[in-house]
Amino acid sequence: MGTQPVSPLRPAPGVPLAAGLPMPAFRRITVEPLSGACGAEIGGVDLSRPLDTETTAEIMAAFQQFLVIVFRNQDLTPDQHKSFSRLFGELTELPQAPTYNGDREMQEVRREADEPVNVVPSFEHFHTDSPFLPQPPKCIVMRALDCPQWGGDTAFSNAYLVYENLSEGLRTLVDGLQIIYSGKDIWRKNESLPPEKRLRLRETHGFSEDQLESIHPAVRVHPETGRRAIFANTAYFKRFVGWTEEESRALLDYLQSQAQQLHYHCRVKWQRDTLIVWDNRFTLHRGVHDFIYERRHLIRTTVMGERPLGPADWKRAG
Ligand SMILES: [Fe+2]
Repeated sequence: MGTQPVSPLRPAPGVPLAAGLPMPAFRRITVEPLSGACGAEIGGVDLSRPLDTETTAEIMAAFQQFLVIVFRNQDLTPDQHKSFSRLFGELTELPQAPTYNGDREMQEVRREADEPVNVVPSFEHFHTDSPFLPQPPKCIVMRALDCPQWGGDTAFSNAYLVYENLSEGLRTLVDGLQIIYSGKDIWRKNESLPPEKRLRLRETHGFSEDQLESIHPAVRVHPETGRRAIFANTAYFKRFVGWTEEESRALLDYLQSQAQQLHYHCRVKWQRDTLIVWDNRFTLHRGVHDFIYERRHLIRTTVMGERPLGPADWKRAG
């Protein structure tokens, strides 16, 4: 690990920023930012073929900076989808997300044309996927099979920028906090809902009870750059360690309200064969369910992340 964290908190005067950092140079791929905050559309690559080292390195650099990278017209077999995903790390399964076609290394997000909007988990809030796991996902690689003609976008919020724009006083407070996340009761809660309100969850999985609850830092540090981001969101949140639920909820609500600000966002319109890789550690995401009577079917792999590092872990390692 390096000792000097990248800090966009004091940018050099006169240097334009994209996603909080100066725009890197790319030679092998085209990179068109989607907004000033995060996201970029990548061109000049066919993901169905093996990629050379330099192209792969540029894709990884774009991923690190923009957090959400979008490729169009990628007609991939499940095996090609998985091999591209493995460039980012080891694939993992999730206890709650339904699998795609019985393949435990792939999941699906599916809403049929006649289904209500709530069938897809956590659609209504910006969230990160599965923060209750000891090693929550590093990234999601998702491809569209069917999408609405209009609407059904996915929106993202850059959690680095949320952190970097807090006051120094609040940054110092959240730097020292830890969060209890739990996914233990989602099936029981779902069962207690009327059938038309239930989420589509995976029915069986091989995870132990212990793997469904974890304590993680509220501020997450990138293991290579040292850049810090808010890692607090309402999905599976119980409380801050040492705080009551009521106190925790008040601070969480404030942090979540900051993540809603448009100047931290990008939004991606899906088309058939659009493939997105998003960083699940340093962004929040949500599907926008502003469509009806149309099918939306997205398939995905999930890449395992590192155990989240907090500011104290980074200092110890530095
Ligand atoms: Fe999600």
